[in-house]
Amino acid sequence: MPLNNEIDEKADELLAKMALAEKIGQMVQIAGPKGPIPDDLKQRLREGKIGSMLNVTDPQTNLEIQRIAAEESRLGIPLIMARDVIHGFRTLFPIPLAQAATWDPQLAEACAKAAAKEARSAGFQWTFAPMMDIARDPRWGRVAEGFGEDPVLAARFASAMVRGFQGSDLSDPGSIAACAKHFAGYGAAEGGRDYDTANIPENLLRDVYLPPFKAAVDAGVATVMSAFNEINGIPATGNIRLLRHILRNEWGFSGFVVSDWRSVAEMIDHGFCEDMKDAAEKSVLAGVDMEMQSSAYADHLEKLAMEGTVPRTLIDEAVRRILRIKWRLGLFNKPAPYYAKPADAPSMEDRELSRTAALKSIVLLKNKNRLLPLSKNIRSLAVIGPLADDPYEVLGTWNRDGRAEDAVTPLAAVRNFLGESFRIHYSAGLDYSRSSDTGQFARALEEAQRSEAVLLFVGEEAILSGEAHSRAYLNLPGSQEALIAEIARSGKPIVLVILAGRPLTIGAVTQYADAVLYAWHPGTMCGPAIVDLIFGNESPSGKLPITFPKTEGQIPVYHAHKSTGRPPENVPLTMMEDIPLRAYQSSLGDASRYLDIGYLPLYPFGYGLSYTEFVYANIKMSSNRIRMDEPFEASVEVTNTGGMEAEEVVQLYIRDLTASLTRPVRELKDFERIRLKPKETRTVVFHLSTDVLGFHNSVMEYVVEPGRFHLWIGGDSTTTLMTEFAVVR
Ligand code: GLC
Repeated sequence: MPLNNEIDEKADELLAKMALAEKIGQMVQIAGPKGPIPDDLKQRLREGKIGSMLNVTDPQTNLEIQRIAAEESRLGIPLIMARDVIHGFRTLFPIPLAQAATWDPQLAEACAKAAAKEARSAGFQWTFAPMMDIARDPRWGRVAEGFGEDPVLAARFASAMVRGFQGSDLSDPGSIAACAKHFAGYGAAEGGRDYDTANIPENLLRDVYLPPFKAAVDAGVATVMSAFNEINGIPATGNIRLLRHILRNEWGFSGFVVSDWRSVAEMIDHGFCEDMKDAAEKSVLAGVDMEMQSSAYADHLEKLAMEGTVPRTLIDEAVRRILRIKWRLGLFNKPAPYYAKPADAPSMEDRELSRTAALKSIVLLKNKNRLLPLSKNIRSLAVIGPLADDPYEVLGTWNRDGRAEDAVTPLAAVRNFLGESFRIHYSAGLDYSRSSDTGQFARALEEAQRSEAVLLFVGEEAILSGEAHSRAYLNLPGSQEALIAEIARSGKPIVLVILAGRPLTIGAVTQYADAVLYAWHPGTMCGPAIVDLIFGNESPSGKLPITFPKTEGQIPVYHAHKSTGRPPENVPLTMMEDIPLRAYQSSLGDASRYLDIGYLPLYPFGYGLSYTEFVYANIKMSSNRIRMDEPFEASVEVTNTGGMEAEEVVQLYIRDLTASLTRPVRELKDFERIRLKPKETRTVVFHLSTDVLGFHNSVMEYVVEPGRFHLWIGGDSTTTLMTEFAVVR
C-alpha cells in the first residue's frame, strides 16, 4: 500500500490528465440500475462522468459497470461502490442503538469488521456508516441507527466502528471505507420529526453533537456525509462553517464529504438555494466533494467553473480527495482487485458474534421474585406475541441484504433449547405489531392457561423506526397492550420481551409482567440470544444508552440535563391526584416538574439489571485537589454479591458545580465493562485528565474552569456513590 505522499503524487498525476468534465464526473454518485445497464448509463461511464454508485446489488452488474469504467473510459478510473451497511450485511447484528446498549465498543468493532468482509466480497467498498447523531428524542425514528443520547458513549462507538469497517488497510479484502454521518445536528430535529429544523447553540453543538464526529475523524474515517437538516438556518449541505471551518480547518479531516441523498437539491426546498445551479455552487463552496443522487454537479458545475464562479482549485481539491480514497481502497491496483459475488449465508463465526452482541445488548428492566432465569423444573411454556416467531422484523430498520430465512426467532430458539418433547404452547395473539384484530386473543389466553409460565414477545415492526419514521405516540402499537392485559388474566407469571427500534412508553404494561427484557431489534441471532438469558446460560448485562420517558409529553428527558434554578429533587411535591380542592396556587411545590408525572423518567440512562447484585464501595480519588492539566485517578470496589458470574458496566459521572456557563447535573465521562465471579471483588480504576472536565464557553473556547466537582461511580446514571474534588490552577 503506497504511503500517503505516494498516493498524493499519483492523484496529482492523474488529476493533471483529467479534463474538467472528467473531474466533475468523479464528484457524481448515483444509484445503480435495478436491471440491465441502460445504454445511456454505459455512455456516461465511458465518458468518465460517474465517480461512484450505490446499491448495485447484482454482482454481475457491479462487475460490468467496473469493467466499462476501467476498460472503456479514457482514463480507466474505477468507481467506488457503496451500500448502507449499518448493522450488518448478510449477517445482521443488533441495531446500533442496541449495540450501544452493550457499552462494549470492541464488540461493535468486531461486528463492523465482520460486516465489512461480507460487503466487500459482494462488491462494495464503501458503507454509509457509522451513524453517530446524538438523539434525545425517541419520537425520532433514526434514534435506532445511532448510539443514543450521550456524546462520550457515542464517540467510543463511532471510533470503534470506523476501525472495524476500515481495518488498518483500506485495500484489504476485509475492509471498506466508513462514513461518519449525518454531519451534523440531525438528531436535534424539532419535535423528533425527521428532516426537521435543528436550532443548536454553537457551544451545545460542540459539546454534545460534534464529539462523536471528531472521534471518527481522529480514528481516520475516510468519508463524512452532510446531513439533510438545517442548523440555525443554514442547511448542513451548504454549511461552510461546518464543512470547511470545523471539519477541515479545525479538525484536519482529509477524506471526502458526500452529500446525503439529494440533500444538495433539497436546499431549494429549504429555501436556501434559488435553483439547481445555485445549489451546486453553494454545496461545492461549502465543501461537499461528491453529490449523491441529485444532478446539480453533473448539470451545472462545469459551467460554474468555466465562468469562474466556482474556482477550479476547489474542484481539483475535491477530486484529489476522492482519488486518494480510491487509491487507498486499492481500486487502481492491477489486476483490478474488485470482485463481486452473492453473499454466502452467515458463517457460524458471524452467527456467534451476532448472538454475543445481541445477548450483551439486551437490558433487564424488571425481574420480580427473580422469575428469571426460568427454573429448569418448569414443564410447560406458552410462547405468545406477534414478534415471537417473525424472522423478518427482528432484523431491524437498516436491513438491506439480510434474509429472514437466516434469522432464528425466539420460538424456534426456545424449541431448539427445550427439545421437541417439551410442551410449548404457541399463539401469535396478533398477526403483526400494528394489528388491532383481537380474534386470536381467546386462543392465546388458552395457551397461557395451559402453561406454567408465559414468554410474551411484543414491540415494533422494523418499519416503525428508521428514516422518515418518527412517531408521536410511543406506546406499543396496535392492540399489543390489550393482548398483554388479556394474557395477564391467566394469572401465570409473564416474561415480557420487547423488540423495538427505540424507547417505548411501556409503563402501562410492565405492571402485568414479572420480568421485562428490552431486546431492541437484535438481528439474525435474536432467538438464541434471548433464550440464553431466559434460561440462565448468561445474565443480562445491557445498560440503556438512552433515557426512557414515562410519556411523550416528558420529551426531551435525558441524564445530562441542567439543574435549573428550581430543581425538584429537594422540594416536597404535591402530585396532581393529591391536590386539595381550591388549593392555594403556590402550595404544590414550585419546582421544575410535571403535576401529573413528576420529573423522573421511566428508566434512566445507564440503567440495566442483572441476575446477580453488584455492590459498589470505597470510591476514591488519587487526590481531592487536582492541578489543571494534571492526570488523576478515580477508583471504586465492585463486588458480585450474588451466586452467578455476570458482567457489569461500571459508569463514571461528574458534575461541575459552578461554572461560567451552567453545567449538566451529571455527565458520563468514562465506563468499563467487567466480568465478576460470584463473591469476587475488583477495584476498577479510571485514569482521567482534567481535559475531560471542560466545555465550550460563551466565546467558543474549550475551557476547564477551576472549582468544585462531584464524581459518581455506579451501575447507572442515578448512582449515589459520590466523592468531591477540586480543580485548582
Ligand atoms: C438516506 C439516508 C442516509 C443513507 C443514504 C443512502 O436517505 O439519510 O443515511 O446513507 O440515503 O441510502
